[in-house]
Amino acid sequence: MKNKDKEQKLMHIVTYGCQMNEHDSEKLAGVLEGEGYQATEELEEADVIILNTCCVRENAELKVYGKVGQLKRLKEENPDLIIGICGCMMQQEEVVKEIKQKYRHVDIVFGTHNIHHFPELLAQAKEQNNPLVQVWDENTELIPDMPVQRTDDHRAWVTIIYGCNNFCTYCIVPYVRGREKSRPLDDIVREVKKLANDGVKEVTLLGQNVNSYGNDFEQETDFADLLTALNEIKGLARIRFMTSHPKDCSDRLIDAVANLDKVCNHFHLPVQAGSNKVLRDMNRNYTREEYISLIEKVRAKNPDASISTDVIVGFPGETEEDFQDTLDLFEQVKYDMAYNFMYSKRTGTPAAQKEDQVPEEVKKDRLQRLIELQKGISMEKNKPYKGKTVEVLVEGESKNNPDTLTGRTTANKIVIFEGDSDLTGQLVNVKINKVQSWTLYGKIVD
Ligand code: SAH
Ligand code: SF4
Ligand code: F3S
Repeated sequence: MKNKDKEQKLMHIVTYGCQMNEHDSEKLAGVLEGEGYQATEELEEADVIILNTCCVRENAELKVYGKVGQLKRLKEENPDLIIGICGCMMQQEEVVKEIKQKYRHVDIVFGTHNIHHFPELLAQAKEQNNPLVQVWDENTELIPDMPVQRTDDHRAWVTIIYGCNNFCTYCIVPYVRGREKSRPLDDIVREVKKLANDGVKEVTLLGQNVNSYGNDFEQETDFADLLTALNEIKGLARIRFMTSHPKDCSDRLIDAVANLDKVCNHFHLPVQAGSNKVLRDMNRNYTREEYISLIEKVRAKNPDASISTDVIVGFPGETEEDFQDTLDLFEQVKYDMAYNFMYSKRTGTPAAQKEDQVPEEVKKDRLQRLIELQKGISMEKNKPYKGKTVEVLVEGESKNNPDTLTGRTTANKIVIFEGDSDLTGQLVNVKINKVQSWTLYGKIVD
């Protein structure tokens, strides 16, 4: 039970960005929990506030600056408050400089590579008044295991590979997350066994490119081997993974998804663009034709698999004709779902230096057209579910639909249905009676 007397120290962590950051925040919360802190929803009552930042697009960064500005008043009111900022944004020198100069109420700044040193930084910050800035340039050591305060009892994230070696020309991630480093297979298996023993039913394996898992090992171990090992774990029901780079999506992986019963029937294969010229300029290392034949191969082996993607509109030099190639690819592939982004210029990346930047209005217009197209396709993909019975892992009460539960199918479709919240964490069968573009609705059946 939460004890809200005055002795109780409280923490508030704000997380921006992807699942890796979400998972890092669970580790920060784990450290703080070990120090006697409990989570609070209220910024005002927190003794420690941490912002775990993202810099993949400009609007992510703007949100962080807005939030840091807001915290100044709280620090003035409570000088004992400790404010920490960490995550990908802090791996950029100019950002740290700006924080040091303009946001002097920040106590601790650290990066993605030294997150495991957070306990020492916290202890030091309590002893002194000057801001502490410690950011490592590279991930020279593998981040050791840290305590984790999980946000969900039945679903857990497990990092399998850190960093990225791909250097897509628009992307800042390789600069802020360092080079690829895989975690030893035995460590991952041990962690997942423990999670399964603790009642976790579904794990999501995380990496910027999970298909590169094991490339940095001396022995021959790849991602399919890891999936095979994890599939044996008793008590675990589902294994998901994020993200697969299309250039490394091997036959072994496609077979593993088809043959291993716990591995979910969903592929997230970010295409980024439909034009070969843009793909080349992005340094994606595949052509549109290669990508389409990959999708065909996936579907041949896994006919029921759902496929989702990430796409960027308005990459520098993208013409209307190039964009038509993206629309056309979407019509051909028929994704279940797509995350659509407007290109955002990231200082330090090659694409930011290109002169033929696309105007904002053009980007916005392309984004809208793509969203519209995909909405219809997603609806079309969901229609065949009507009348079918699907297995759903219950995630809990639905936030947007009062008095209902929410969960996902193996193909990652969100399902809304009535039921007792005691079912959370269990697999139930749901007969679908209504479908929308992003959601299925139904009734539990035996
Ligand atoms: N490693 C993952 C994705 C990491 S970032 C992968 O390669 O699949 C998540 C998504 O953000 C990317 O897939 C891309 O679509 C988008 N993204 C990355 N940099 C971007 C930029 N500069 N502007 C707009 N979108 C970007
Ligand atoms: Fe960024 Fe490309 Fe690496 Fe993904 S694969 S993180 S898009 S550089
Ligand atoms: Fe953002 Fe870092 Fe993830 S830049 S998308 S939080 S790896």
